[in-house]
Amino acid sequence: MSRATDELRDHAFDGIQEYDNPLPRWWLGIFWVTIAFGVVYAPWIHWGQGNTIEEEYAAEMAAASAGSGGTEAAVVFDNDALTARCAGEGWSARAEGAFATNCVACHRADGGGLVGPNFTDDFYLHGGRPADIARIITVGVPEKGMIAWGKLIDRETILDLACKVRSFRGTTPGNEPMPPKEPQGVKVDAEGLALP
Ligand code: HEC
Repeated sequence: MSRATDELRDHAFDGIQEYDNPLPRWWLGIFWVTIAFGVVYAPWIHWGQGNTIEEEYAAEMAAASAGSGGTEAAVVFDNDALTARCAGEGWSARAEGAFATNCVACHRADGGGLVGPNFTDDFYLHGGRPADIARIITVGVPEKGMIAWGKLIDRETILDLACKVRSFRGTTPGNEPMPPKEPQGVKVDAEGLALP
């Protein structure tokens, strides 16, 4: 949309003259809008609510590793708090459905073990404290077939499941459909810590 009549400007550079040929209004409009946007957007990203690419990357990596294990706070459990939870009531009913749906296939409804270890004995592969149990439920042992449930089950339910697993210890599993699994791992004391 140039003007109807282009005007030859009166100055000359090395004998070259130019037309006064202004940029179209729509083009200038977009140009000014992008500048206005940048003036707002750059401070917002760097000092305001917005996240830079690096911050977004760090947040995504943290979220991913919280789900799949690692050593982040998300997989560290407070053993005292969890022991108190397990001593209380409520976890049993809450854990029931999740255990039946997700765990019995490998650990059996009576905890006797099948593909997964026996929960009723005093031997543990990954530690016998409630916090150890909650941790291994969360991060799993994928190379051995134990799923990292932290990605699939919410943290509160995992705490209840840890109480459920712990509660099998000292019970006597049945012999059907087959005898319970032989002890695996190291023997632990009453608290769940490995014995020397
Ligand atoms: C597909 C089979 C499978 C399913 C389903 C499964 N597990 Fe496991 N689980 C295993 C195997 C195999 C191991 C042993 C890992 C190893 O050898 O280190 C294991 C280990 C464990 C341990 C560690 C035991 C120890 O001796 O330290 C706990 C606790 C546990 N599972 C809890 C659960 C819970 C709770 C669920 C349900 C949310 C569940 N598992 C579902 C296969 C399974």
